[in-house]
Order: sequence, then C-alpha cells, then structure tokens
Amino acid sequence: MNALRKRGQRHSSESNPIREWPYSSQHAALVTDCCSLLQSLPDESVQLIVCDPPYNIQLAHWDIHEDYTQWATRWLRHAERVLSRTGSLVIFGGLQYQNEAGSGDLLSLIVDMRRNSEMRLVNLIVWNYPNGMSAHRFFANRHEEIAWFARSNRYYFDLDTVREPYDETTKAAYLKDKRLRPESVEKGRNPTNVWQIPRLNGNSKERVGHPTQKPRELIHRLVRSLSFPGSVVLDFFGGSGVTTRVAIEEGRHTVTCDIDPTYRTYLGLQIEMLKSEQLVNGTSHQYRISDTLDPDHPIFLKQDACGTGTNDVEV
Ligand SMILES: C[S@@+](CC[C@H](N)C(=O)[O-])C[C@H]1O[C@@H](n2cnc3c(N)ncnc32)[C@H](O)[C@@H]1O
Repeated sequence: MNALRKRGQRHSSESNPIREWPYSSQHAALVTDCCSLLQSLPDESVQLIVCDPPYNIQLAHWDIHEDYTQWATRWLRHAERVLSRTGSLVIFGGLQYQNEAGSGDLLSLIVDMRRNSEMRLVNLIVWNYPNGMSAHRFFANRHEEIAWFARSNRYYFDLDTVREPYDETTKAAYLKDKRLRPESVEKGRNPTNVWQIPRLNGNSKERVGHPTQKPRELIHRLVRSLSFPGSVVLDFFGGSGVTTRVAIEEGRHTVTCDIDPTYRTYLGLQIEMLKSEQLVNGTSHQYRISDTLDPDHPIFLKQDACGTGTNDVEV
C-alpha cells in the first residue's frame, strides 16, 4: 500500500464505496465451537484473523488438549481458506509453555504452517510488557509472541496508521537533517516488531473478567495496520470480546465466537464501557450486533482480490 502511494496510485481498498462514513458496522458474535463457525464461512471472505488460541497450559477447562497440534491444524487450514488474497492471520502465543503441559505451543503452530501452508511469515512480533509473574529458577518472563502470516505477497499493510511520533528533540534534529524527508519525519517512526505495551493488571479499567484478556492498544494496532475500514475481521477465540469492541471503534465488521457462553456477558460489558466512553468523549459509532450470522452480513459480500466488497455474488 505504501509502495502504491509512493507511485501516486491508490490501493483499490481506498476507493471502496462501503468505506464511506457514516456506515453501520456489523458484528456477529456467536457462542459455538471455532471449527463449526469456520465451516460456515465462505472462501476468501475475511481480511484479518485475530487468533488468540488456548495456550495449552491447562489454564481452564478449555485449555486442555490431548493432541494440541492436531486440533490446531483443523482451524489453521480453515483460517487460510477464508482469508482474502490481501489478508493476514495473526496468532498469539508463547514458546515456553509446552514443557510441563503436554504437546503444542506457538512454535509447533509455526512449524505446521511452514510444512502445510502457503502463507508466509511476515513478522514474529515480540509483545514485551513490564508487568508479570516473578521467578526464582529462571529469568522472569516479560514477552509473548504474535506470529503474523500473510495469505499472499499482495498482503495489505498500512504502516502510516500505526507509526509512533518522534519525541520533540529527535524530531527537531531529524528535521534539520538534509538526508531525511520532512514528510517522513512528520509521519513518525515504524513501531518495529517489538511492541512495548503493558499487560492488563487485575484492576485495569479495561478488564471484563476474562482470564487472558488482551489490551485494546495491542488489538487496535493490528486492526489498523492489517485491515481497512469496511473490511471483515474474524476472531474465533473471542474471549473477552475485545476484538469486537476495537472493530466497532475502527469501523470494521466482525465475525467472532467463543465456545464459552460467558462470551455474551463479556461482550455486553465491553459494549457498556464503549457507550460510557462515547458519552464522555462525545464520539459516536454506528454498529449492529447479532448473536447469529445473518445472510446480509458483509462476510457474504463477494471480496475481490484487493479486499473490496461488491454485491455481485456469483452463484
Ligand atoms: C486465550 S483466550 C482468548 C482471549 C481473547 N483474545 C481476549 O483478549 O479476550 C482463548 C479463548 O478460546 C476459547 N475457546 C477454547 N476452545 C474453543 C473452541 N474449540 N472454540 C471456540 N472457542 C474456544 C476459550 O473459551 C477462551 O475464551
């Protein structure tokens, strides 16, 4: 996308009519098994999959799998099938969980992808946080990983939406540097593949009660850079409902699910918090949430190779 802009051209997603504001984003939030949902989704219909699977560390009843990798390959193959050619899959996980808890972790998923998938690993993002458990027999862990896989080389990536501003001193120095273009300095820096974002503390205002809820800031960064307004984001391990909330704020549609019926409660709390914030900030978002996946959901609009939706569904 940035290369297109440099050449003075526009990515076709930028002229997509369904992006024009205001439009109402649509959110299907189901209580079901991930594979049942995935089976019902059309090929190449999703721009971004946010995938934060059970970590196989026996954290809860949903976190115990006899053969984790075999189970994971079922949803990984579907994930690839439903992604559009410009789409991306991001998988959360760690590399150090498998020792005591059986087989399978992010590393085994990456190995599986390398062997059995055509998707390419674009980045292994290190999510580094300052807060975590203490340790005495090893160095206390302060990072998890996010593996970013692209469906094809034409993947959508909007770096400008997630650049970090330079501090005033650095900016002033860079603006004097004749080798640097002032527009680039104004845009800010590439946030790199090491993201320093605190984990949610027990008393964080964002918390809705889910044990492994991810910070909104993290999900915002992924949604902004890897999907575009009006596109569809899928999260089949919905957890706390944070992806739906972020998508509403960013004007993306979602399809999400979780096998645990508490998902509805968590999502309800997310929406209450969103509404309170809207009142305070004076912002407004148009959205519709449904607990079924209806035929008029944008995921059933045909997506062309650049992720633009049209109503010309082929039969
Ligand atoms: C690591 S958590 C996801 C947390 C979420 N990303 C968040 O930030 O709130 C994994 C979730 O997967 C759900 N889950 C486990 N097995 C599942 C399955 N077979 N189908 C759908 N959801 C499942 C669990 O109920 C749990 O909420």
